[in-house]
Amino acid sequence: MRDFPAAALAQDFIGLDTRYPLADGRITRRHYLDSAASTLTLDSARQVADELLRHYANTHSELHFSARIVSHAYAWAHQQVLNFVQVDPNQYTAFFAGSGCTATLNRLARILAAQRPERNLVLVSLMEHHANDLPHRKHAGTVIHLPLTGQSSALGAIDLTALERLFKQHQGRVNAVAVSAASNVTGIVNPVHAIAALAHAYGAWIIVDASQALAHAPLPISDTGAPERQLDALVFSGHKLYAPGSPGVAVVRRSLLDGQEPDEVGGGMVDDVSLTGYQVTPRFPDREEAGTPNILGAVQLGAVLNMLQRVGMAQIHAAEQTRLRQLLTGLASIPGLRIYGDPDPDRTPRLGTVAFNLVGLEHGLVAAVLNDYFNIAMRNGCFCAHPYVRELLKPELWALELDPDAEDVARQLKAWQGMVRASLGLYTTAEDIEALLAGLRDLQSRPDYYRTQYTMDAEGNFHHRTFTAPAESLFDPEAVLDRINSPGQFSGD
Ligand SMILES: Cc1ncc(COP(=O)(O)O)c(C=O)c1O
Repeated sequence: MRDFPAAALAQDFIGLDTRYPLADGRITRRHYLDSAASTLTLDSARQVADELLRHYANTHSELHFSARIVSHAYAWAHQQVLNFVQVDPNQYTAFFAGSGCTATLNRLARILAAQRPERNLVLVSLMEHHANDLPHRKHAGTVIHLPLTGQSSALGAIDLTALERLFKQHQGRVNAVAVSAASNVTGIVNPVHAIAALAHAYGAWIIVDASQALAHAPLPISDTGAPERQLDALVFSGHKLYAPGSPGVAVVRRSLLDGQEPDEVGGGMVDDVSLTGYQVTPRFPDREEAGTPNILGAVQLGAVLNMLQRVGMAQIHAAEQTRLRQLLTGLASIPGLRIYGDPDPDRTPRLGTVAFNLVGLEHGLVAAVLNDYFNIAMRNGCFCAHPYVRELLKPELWALELDPDAEDVARQLKAWQGMVRASLGLYTTAEDIEALLAGLRDLQSRPDYYRTQYTMDAEGNFHHRTFTAPAESLFDPEAVLDRINSPGQFSGD
């Protein structure tokens, strides 16, 4: 495997030069700061998938050349996942499911609950994305939300002392701890290997949602090699790892799956079927992947993981931390800007995601102005982590003193209940961050001007009075088809 320089990788993305017309008539380059939602596409990995298309066939066919080539590439993709998180393939399996990690988390919640129904408690942190909370609520019995260190808007990581207290209080009842390696709201990092050691000491399993971590920092299955610090299951989404269109991924200790009826059944996971029964294959990952898989997406993701390993995740992490500090320092220099989560990365480590608000300005207005006037793509709202966002915002929401009898109280609450989030990727430049800071400074210097340009709808979203993003004229699938299929291409033209 040839090494690859980080700087060259940062240039290898599709969409770095995408330009849009703005509300003031300028046409500028997009600054993509929404990588926590979905990252841009690594071009060379996309090309690997495109080349595979020449051979495309089903992995469930076995004999012909194309089927063998595709099956080999698909197996290679699994191997890349196992290599990336440094697991022993005899102990762990990697399988793909659904279109994101939500599918794998639902699957794991069902599997773990079925394994030990007598342990009907799952501990989930307060900062979880709904995807690592609701499946456990639905399948596990009872979910307890783990407190975080720190207070109000400066909450930190998972509180290990409180975690141990809960284990002691509920001896023998906790089936699993389900926590994210890094928050999708604040980027705050949790000590997942220390949590694993605690969980194992009390006979619980640990599931780690690595969706916001794997693209940003090294995350081996055990940080020291000590077995008690090994994670039992780790899940992530390929579309947050530079491979849109790829499936959700789970890396799971084989012993958790062995001997259990697979959660999903169908073609590809059986060795024999009669009219009265079927025999599940003992082979991993086949037994966990009923149906024809998303071969192209998986191979594209495998290619991304391979490229990231060529550069080295430690180097990628270090480069992102430089940008993150630029962002945090710049945001802290803007008066009236509140950063959520402990803002000191030396005290509470975080990855490249920062949520904030400009005091006195609705999150929807800030995000709309930054998009329409500064071409900065960011997300606002509660980021599918409502309990966490509400907790971070609690003092501000109380201070609003909304009249519960007012007719538009729900609309008012929506307008103020949320944040704006900037999230970084490998391709984020110092210039992208400067553009965000400049936009925020401008907005803060003349909020009344910008406010008059917008109306707010019943959902708390802001719409420009005269400018609408011309989505259809910027990307029209039929026009693309017309361009590709030049006249005369089809008989009868
Ligand atoms: C931490 C975290 N977990 C889970 C998810 C759900 O991912 P998906 O929608 O790809 O299933 C997300 C998506 O934003 C996330 O940030």
